[in-house]
Amino acid sequence: LVNNNKLIARINVDGLKILGTGSYVPELIVTNQMFEAIVDTSDEWITSRTGIAQRHFVSGETSLEMVKAACAGAIADAGIDKGDIGLVICATVTSDYITPALSALLQRELDLPEELLTFDLNGACSGFVYALHVAQSLLQHQPGKYALICAGEILSRLTDFSDRSSCVLFGDGAGAALIGIEENNPYAFAAGAKGNEEFLSCLHPLTGNHHPFGEQKPQQTESPSFLSMNGQEVFRFAVESISKSVANLKQNLQLDNDTITYYVLHQANLRIIYSVARKLAEPLDKFFININKYGNTSAASIALALDNMNRQGLLQRGDTIILAGFGGGLTYGSMLITW
Ligand code: ACO
Repeated sequence: LVNNNKLIARINVDGLKILGTGSYVPELIVTNQMFEAIVDTSDEWITSRTGIAQRHFVSGETSLEMVKAACAGAIADAGIDKGDIGLVICATVTSDYITPALSALLQRELDLPEELLTFDLNGACSGFVYALHVAQSLLQHQPGKYALICAGEILSRLTDFSDRSSCVLFGDGAGAALIGIEENNPYAFAAGAKGNEEFLSCLHPLTGNHHPFGEQKPQQTESPSFLSMNGQEVFRFAVESISKSVANLKQNLQLDNDTITYYVLHQANLRIIYSVARKLAEPLDKFFININKYGNTSAASIALALDNMNRQGLLQRGDTIILAGFGGGLTYGSMLITW
C-alpha cells in the first residue's frame, strides 16, 4: 500500500484477470446531421469540438436488455461455467428501476446461481473501473470463482434535447467483463472524489417531502430531471484529475511509459484524450478511441472500449493496460490491469 499525496494506490500481484468481454449498442444510429434539425449546431462543430460523429439511442430497449446482452457476450467469450459466478455488479446511473437493481434481475435473466452477491453501483463515468476494483477486493471472500461486471446506460433518458451544449454528447450502450483473480498478475488502482453538484448533476426525480404530515407541501416536478453540465469545468477537472491520477499510479509502481501497452480512457471528448496523452508524454496511438461511433456512454464507455479492442484482436495476454474513468461526483479512478 502506497500513500502519495493522499492518493491511495494498491498493488496486488493476485490481480484481477479479464477472462471475457461483451457489449451491446442499440440499433438506432443518430448522426450529427440529425441534431442539426433540432438545435442550432453543425456536424463540423460537434466533430471538431468532441470527436463524435454518431451515437446510438434506444428505441424500445431497456437498460436490463442491454446489460443482459453484454453480459451474455462476456460469459460466452470467457467460456466459463455460469455456476461459478458469485458476484454481479452493474455500474449505472440509468437503471430501469430504483429497485430492483439491474444486477439482481440479471440473476434471473442469465439463469445464474442463487448464491450470488448482486448490487448496482452509481459511480457515473467512473462506475465501471470502480466496479472492477470492488470485484477485485470482494472476489477474495466470495464463494464463486468469478465476477460478472457490467455497465449500461440510457443517457438519452436524461438528456435535455433543447440544450445544444450537452445533447450532442451522449449515447446509449452497455459493456461487460467476466473476471477472476489470477496469481502473479500485476494490478493497481487509485481513485479520488471531489464532491460537487454544480458542474455536473442530474436531480433525482423523487425529491422533497412526499408524505402528508410535514409543513412542506409535496413538490410537483415541473419538468423531468435532465443532466446539466458546465462543460468547460468538467473538461478541466477531467484532464487534471486523470493526468495526475495516472502519473501518480505509474510513479508509485515505478513504471515507465514503455511498460504501458494501451490507455483506455472514458470516452467523453476526443480533446480530453489528446490533452491527457500530451501531459503523459505518450503517443496517441496508445489511446483506444471509439467516441466517434458511440459518443459518451458514461459508465459503459470503458467496458464498450475493452470489448471493441478484444474483438478487434488488439489485446495480447500479458499486455499492461491503464483504464481511467472520470465524471459525475465528481469522481475519477485509474486502474492498471494485466490482460
Ligand atoms: N453546436 C454549436 N455551438 C455550440 C454547441 C453545439 N452543439 N454547444 C456549445 N456551442 C457554442 C457555445 O454556445 C459557445 O458559443 P459562444 O462562444 O457564442 O458563447 C461556443 O460553442 C463554445 O462553447 P464552450 O462551452 O466553450 O465549448 P467547448 O469547446 O468547451 O466544448 C464541450 C463544450 C464539448 C461540452 C466540452 O466542454 C466538453 O467536452 N466538456 C467535458 C464534458 C465531459 O467530459 N463530460 C463527462 C462527464 S458526463 C457524465 O458524467 C454523464
